[in-house]
Amino acid sequence: TRNPVAKLLLFGATGDLAQRMLLPSLYGLHADGLLPDGLTITGTARSEHDDGSYRKFAKAALDEFLPDDRKDEKAMKSFLERLGYQSLDATDMAHYKDLATKVGDVSGGLAIFLSTAPSLFEPVIKGLESAGLAGNTVRIGLEKPLGYDLASSREINDTVASAFPEDRTFRIDHYLGKETVQNILALRFGNSFFEPVWNARGIDNVQITISETVGLEARAGYYETAGALRDMVTNHMLQLLALVAMEPPARFDGTAVRDEKAKVFRSLRKMTPEEVPHLTVTGQYGAGAVSGEIVKSYGDELGKPSTTETFVAIKAHVDNWRWQGVPFYLRTGKRMPVRRSEIAIQFKPVPHSMFAGRGGLLQPNVLIIRLQPEEYVQLLVMAKEPGLDRDGIRLREVPLNLSMDLEFAGARRRIAYERLLLDLIEGDPTLFVRRDEVEAQWEWTDAIRAGWDANGVKPKNYASGTWGPSTAIALTERDGVTWQDD
Ligand code: BG6
Repeated sequence: TRNPVAKLLLFGATGDLAQRMLLPSLYGLHADGLLPDGLTITGTARSEHDDGSYRKFAKAALDEFLPDDRKDEKAMKSFLERLGYQSLDATDMAHYKDLATKVGDVSGGLAIFLSTAPSLFEPVIKGLESAGLAGNTVRIGLEKPLGYDLASSREINDTVASAFPEDRTFRIDHYLGKETVQNILALRFGNSFFEPVWNARGIDNVQITISETVGLEARAGYYETAGALRDMVTNHMLQLLALVAMEPPARFDGTAVRDEKAKVFRSLRKMTPEEVPHLTVTGQYGAGAVSGEIVKSYGDELGKPSTTETFVAIKAHVDNWRWQGVPFYLRTGKRMPVRRSEIAIQFKPVPHSMFAGRGGLLQPNVLIIRLQPEEYVQLLVMAKEPGLDRDGIRLREVPLNLSMDLEFAGARRRIAYERLLLDLIEGDPTLFVRRDEVEAQWEWTDAIRAGWDANGVKPKNYASGTWGPSTAIALTERDGVTWQDD
């Protein structure tokens, strides 16, 4: 049921995301012959450009952000020919007429990619509608932030819904475009042996870590309104949790997959204000060293004191039959020792060890799904160490290893946005986030924020280059659980 459009309209066409991700992704699709023939791409933003100068701008971005072995002069030239540009003051309704003229006939289908400041949502949607750019051949892709709590997210969703029905609205969570994230579905539902143990009887706990070495970068304005909980948990981390926790969808399509994810979000145990300080930890990075480099504290980078959290750890529960009693530990932070996105699923220990006293301690099995920087799946198992020990056999934990890089050595590592832009252009909603998912995600995280407010919780300082405040370690240790591989 793929239904490709003839045109693409890119809001924020001169922005950071466009330069680093969107233009290189579109070029990648073009060079691989995946874009519809004749698809034209119109960029729009406030900056003054004509088609020619925008093509130069785009070329400079490709030169900077594409890996050298992807720079094919011929493909670049034909890609740039697809590009046009119209400058636009998003708050000036008169400008949308010019935009519509530039885009031209949309009867062959138009996909819009919108990444703008939240304050511009309303004028942009109204402008698109008034200029005839919201008809039933038009679909819209939306980048985060889509609000900062449930109420504001509803407002944005209502504004969008006034012009675009849900089946033409594609909310982006770029984690869903990552190969290894989709691989969670392949592992769970393309194999028979995980599912029978994939529940509270087989699994002791689940840990999801997204650690970053970067700090604030040049995003003070946005990050101060967000913090780690809104920036990473309400979207990426909860999406990962849902893919791990959901029931098997009957089909790999937008309705079945998203129905199951939405059920998980609705099953998240909502915290009471009293519980929040016991089930969450927040931190803000102080000065320190990351990868041998001395870095400033968050406040010094910002130029003023702040109570925004740059780290959060959470003990979550999914209240349904499958997951009763299984903690889901989540943690994410900036200025951590390493960049790592990973899911670690720790299985229950064996019921009885026949090796006791004759081979050492058995470690419980762990399934590690590493999303980045490397992509691999490892199952940690106990195996016999070679040797002729007389007092039993010596056991050691070793990984059964699936390295995506080695196994699929010929495959190019794609940017997550390549998958998502292609699906937006072709109209496949499976890897986009539905309104009910987003609202259930906000409802759960809003309760956490309310608990912080009610208890006057302020983020604890942690040194850059460490795994967050020591209370984050205590969060799992008091359950007898250690964070995987710190
Ligand atoms: C974005 C957040 O959504 O995800 C950033 O706004 C974060 O703060 C980024 O750095 C992480 O994405 P990735 O793909 O580098 O893990």
